[in-house]
Amino acid sequence: MESKNFYVTTPIYYVNDLPHIGHVYTTVVADVVARYKKLMGYEVYFLTGTDEHGLKVEKAAKEKGLKPIELADSVVENYKKLWPKLYIKNSDFIRTTEERHIKGAIALFNKMKENGDIYLGKYKGKYCVSCEAVLTEFQAKNNKCPDCGKPVEDVEEESYFFKLSKYQKKLLEFYEQNPDFIQPENRRNEVISFVKSGLKDLSISRTSFKWGIPIPGDEKHVMYVWLDALSNYITALGYPDDTELFKKFWPADLHLVGKDILRFHAVYWPAFLMSANLPLPKTVYAHGWWLKDSGKMSKSVGNIVRPQYLLDQFGADALRYFLLREMVFGNDCNFSDEAFLNRLNSDLANDLGNLVSRTLSMIAKYKDGVIPEPDRESEEYREIESLAKTCGVNWESYFDTYQFHKALSEVWIFLNHLNRFIVKVEPWKLVKDSTLARKLDTVLYVLAESLRLVALYISPAMPEKSQEIWNRIGFNRDIETSPITFLKFGVLEGGIKINAVKEHLFPRIDIKEYFRDVEKNKGEVEKVEGKDFISIEDFAKVQLKIARVLEAEKIEKSNKLLKLQIDLGGETRQIVAGIARKYKPEDLVGRLIVVVANLKPAKLMGVQSNGMLLAASGDDGEPFILTPDSGAKEGFRVK
Ligand code: MSP
Repeated sequence: MESKNFYVTTPIYYVNDLPHIGHVYTTVVADVVARYKKLMGYEVYFLTGTDEHGLKVEKAAKEKGLKPIELADSVVENYKKLWPKLYIKNSDFIRTTEERHIKGAIALFNKMKENGDIYLGKYKGKYCVSCEAVLTEFQAKNNKCPDCGKPVEDVEEESYFFKLSKYQKKLLEFYEQNPDFIQPENRRNEVISFVKSGLKDLSISRTSFKWGIPIPGDEKHVMYVWLDALSNYITALGYPDDTELFKKFWPADLHLVGKDILRFHAVYWPAFLMSANLPLPKTVYAHGWWLKDSGKMSKSVGNIVRPQYLLDQFGADALRYFLLREMVFGNDCNFSDEAFLNRLNSDLANDLGNLVSRTLSMIAKYKDGVIPEPDRESEEYREIESLAKTCGVNWESYFDTYQFHKALSEVWIFLNHLNRFIVKVEPWKLVKDSTLARKLDTVLYVLAESLRLVALYISPAMPEKSQEIWNRIGFNRDIETSPITFLKFGVLEGGIKINAVKEHLFPRIDIKEYFRDVEKNKGEVEKVEGKDFISIEDFAKVQLKIARVLEAEKIEKSNKLLKLQIDLGGETRQIVAGIARKYKPEDLVGRLIVVVANLKPAKLMGVQSNGMLLAASGDDGEPFILTPDSGAKEGFRVK
């Protein structure tokens, strides 16, 4: 019988940089796979974490005047805080600086050595710090890394080597016998030709820097960061101890990686495992890259997409949906705010959101908010039941083969059928003819039941909104722990009361207005980040004043904005502030704040703002309102 355990991993992220859209993407995909497998009855283990050793991190820390561990500690917090905001529910988070990991990585090294695969030699060659990759003279043509294009360093030092060459044949045999090991197909072929072209022994220790795991018995060497990092997939399960977790979940079912790090996972990692007599993972899946303006994102170009803004404005589910629906898993994909907003408006607000609103408002109006009992033998029932079945079969097979964009597009095909079904059957006419009452009941039931199913189908991608749909149709169950039997059409029982909520599930976004706001924000950011000094006269142009908050309320359609009425010392004004994620309106009333009183009036989400509240901004954009010392009064000038 097929084992019902599933182990999925993300790469562990370097701590020299804050999370960006690429990190978010893989982790969202892993979370979606984990949720899908749970729904299908698997016991799932989902691991993510951070890669904290190596020259790259050591250098980044030095530039910031920090110790490597201090840099790691602060960056890790950003990851740990971001994941729950995206509804990512990992089972564990491993850091390579943790004792449990170091112990396991050393055990793996010792095992490989014990099996005669590690020897001491001299390494002379090139090193790419950015990729932490050891390169041959041939690979580093013109002293540039073939993968990232950055300049490489010359290195010559004593080094431990792993007998990678010994595994060339075994690896090729393994790829042959396990066609699903490397996916997608085109990447598999690339790896196979790389291995066929000849494998050289791999340098797996360094003596020229310190930030790494010391090699047991020869502490002037630190372990090659990729050997250290790759072992996280087993050290997190307790390796080398014979733990329950290890027995249950190793070998991993799915290592998710970006295409740039496939070679490490599909060549080095299986060879290390073969050397240590450990079973090999079942699949390594390499996804493509998110591009910006059709080019690579990079810090130097300054075009790295950080997801925080979209997440704050539109919520986790919209971002998760976009990432999964827009990218063909395995290919590169361009990232743009326009594409994001178009998906939000057309797929989420129009197709899905409107169907929810229409269905529930008809049930409220025609049936007093109670879902009617259908005629399960009727034509309408059978028609929708059969569409739901087709959708379910395709959805499952696409999910099983990691074709997320297709799985979601299947659900949208079903949604479009449902929208057309309403137009065809015209429930507003049925309600006027009492002889058609049974038909109306069936129509309303099949729509509600379809929404229940649609919510379940999209729940791995959209955990928050799918639960909300269930709550709105009165199916008050926990969607995350839904039994597999709920994937059948007809589970909903007539007689349950819906929760008629007026708010739209996904409010439509005015795209023009959005870009106006973004431009305005950009201007402000540029001004603030500009390096030029300003004169005291320049500063004096800014009128900073103390004000008291008189009223505060949320702005509909925005997760971030609050509308405030403030007293500026005799003058009452309205301002809009982007602090709603942290501050509740009621906690602000009565508080003294600092505002820019002479800022040009602007509209945010269509609401007039005549000034700007000042707040400090944390690493991930979290606001901290400024408050004056006691004794300050409304209207006081801040200078
Ligand atoms: N620390 C190594 C992984 C060790 S795993 C044992 C590493 N870290 S990383 O932080 O640089 O990158 C992590 C992942 O982010 C990689 O899978 C990489 O492909 C992915 N991405 C980085 N930029 C990306 C995009 N622009 N788009 C999609 N993913 C990309 O490599």
